[in-house]
Amino acid sequence: MKIKTPLILINFKTYSQATGRNALNLAKICEAVAKQHGASIAVAPQLADAQRIAEVVEIPVLAQHIDNVQPGSHTGFVLPEAVKEIGLAGSLLNHSEHRIRLDVIEDSIQRLKKLELASIVCSNNIPTTSAMASLGPDFVAIEPPELIGSGISVSDAQPEIIEGAVKAVQRITKKIPVLCGAGITKGADVKKSIQLGAKGVLVASGVVKAEKPEKVLTEFVKYMQA
Ligand code: G3P
Repeated sequence: MKIKTPLILINFKTYSQATGRNALNLAKICEAVAKQHGASIAVAPQLADAQRIAEVVEIPVLAQHIDNVQPGSHTGFVLPEAVKEIGLAGSLLNHSEHRIRLDVIEDSIQRLKKLELASIVCSNNIPTTSAMASLGPDFVAIEPPELIGSGISVSDAQPEIIEGAVKAVQRITKKIPVLCGAGITKGADVKKSIQLGAKGVLVASGVVKAEKPEKVLTEFVKYMQA
């Protein structure tokens, strides 16, 4: 499933509001807003919830991580082939809450490409954004870790990191869209991120923990499409 831009990617993390039945309900809300407004919205639930969600919704469902191990004697890992088998569209890699080595990122991107799965590689500053872009993922997502979950939007607190990341990637290739995340809670945060050159946003608590996720998502979409 192709992932279009501008993109709103909701990372469910391990929030209880996005676990089990709650995850399925939230994914259905994301799908409904995407369909109602013709917007590109994707979700990244925990793997335990992913297959049930992918079988029900028609928006891209992504893993939050995959492991670059081969089939065989490995315990507690997740094969990219297993993610493909359950109908996911790709995976996040190297989120600041699940960092992996650069060589593993490189191999994982190639494994995902071979399976026609999208790779969204996370970075935490401009130099790491350049490094990730040089590995040829489908997306790079820059997120200053200190703003994650803060409610202080990266587009307000560190606009230069979004602009700098976009320029850094464009110096390598024009083909890799840059997403940004951390602290995004309002439509204005999404609009400013796009104005700064991002092709979408990566959001967790602003939607997952919202009283009315549908209301927040609809505001994101309206500001993104304005
Ligand atoms: O993956 C996105 C996430 O790290 C951003 O977190 O809660 O600030 O939207 P949050």
